[in-house]
Amino acid sequence: MAATTTLRAAEIAGVGHYVPARVVKNAELEEMMATSDAWIQERTGVQERRWFEEGKDTTAGMGAEAARRALAQAGLTVDDVQLIVFATLSPDYFFPGSGVLMQRELGMTGNVPALDVRNQCSGFIYGLSVADQFVRTGMYDTVLVVGSEIHSSGLDKTPRGRAVSVIFGDGAGAVVLRPAREASHGILSTHLHAQGEFAEELIVKEPSSNRENRTQYIFDHEQDLYPYMNGQNVFKHAVVRFPQVITEALDQNGYQAQDIDLLIPHQANLRITQYVQQKMGLPDDKVFSNIQRYGNTTAASIPIALSEAVQEGRIKRGDLLCLAAFGSGFTWASALIKW
Ligand code: UT7
Repeated sequence: MAATTTLRAAEIAGVGHYVPARVVKNAELEEMMATSDAWIQERTGVQERRWFEEGKDTTAGMGAEAARRALAQAGLTVDDVQLIVFATLSPDYFFPGSGVLMQRELGMTGNVPALDVRNQCSGFIYGLSVADQFVRTGMYDTVLVVGSEIHSSGLDKTPRGRAVSVIFGDGAGAVVLRPAREASHGILSTHLHAQGEFAEELIVKEPSSNRENRTQYIFDHEQDLYPYMNGQNVFKHAVVRFPQVITEALDQNGYQAQDIDLLIPHQANLRITQYVQQKMGLPDDKVFSNIQRYGNTTAASIPIALSEAVQEGRIKRGDLLCLAAFGSGFTWASALIKW
């Protein structure tokens, strides 16, 4: 590192979210997927989720709306943005990524770069970590980090897909990162992990580039266009990795679990969150959950939850905030933030 380099912390200067208007309650899925409100609530905690409206909501468009709200909260405009980091597992196109589409949607001029992140449930924290490094090194002052997902168009909405399809929902969230205004505030550290040996445990396999004729192949393998999840194995790993990566963040910064003012876990499953809460010894008011209303929105779940937590006045200046995620890859991650 050059001797002249000054590292500075990045802080979240604004946060916003957007969810589609259509509310889909568990009762609506009962006949469609041979499931029940009772089963879904007992196993996942989900009561309802949002499904997008074709022609109105797009992955990039929802991200853009969340970004506008985050910028407004920060008192900034799109002209201030110097980098876009866009996390999604449900991009508008196979390529190009949704980052450039959101840049266009926001009417941004100046050829601002757009980076696409593909780390599923951990995508937002991975993106936040990348953005944090750019602000720390002084390369950029204002970075948009966005998580946006449309799951509902890609789910198997028959009884065959019910174990997966009842969980996921659509939505978007965004934050604006800026250099911290005060010493010892902002993102204290981020921690990223992956374990590729479990890549196929939570996956959408097709269309795969490895097929000689991928467009033909999918006609005979329609089932592989839908998400597959080995739910029990994902659950088993999640309840180990969440506490591990939270503890790693606390240890690095000399904090204990009881110092956390608010834990915002990726909204994977309410049972996972409750297990993590118990393991970390945190009271109910220190753990944020909104999976009941949105389901699991993968890369969007943490910024949506963060945005709601701020709106509800659950985070005040000086609070110690922990974000943590686990999901497909497997990937997992955490961020410790002094608000
Ligand atoms: O965000 C990324 C990470 N993802 C996660 O963290 C998800 C982790 N996994 C889970 O949350 C849970 O594994 C699920 C909620 C997905 C499933 O819960 P489970 O308790 O692991 O259920 P299971 O797949 O073992 O199935 C238990 C039973 C089965 O019936 P039998 O064989 O015992 O008769 C399933 O057929 O529940 C049945 N089942 C359902 N019944 C009604 C599975 N899905 C449904 C459903 N409605 N939607």
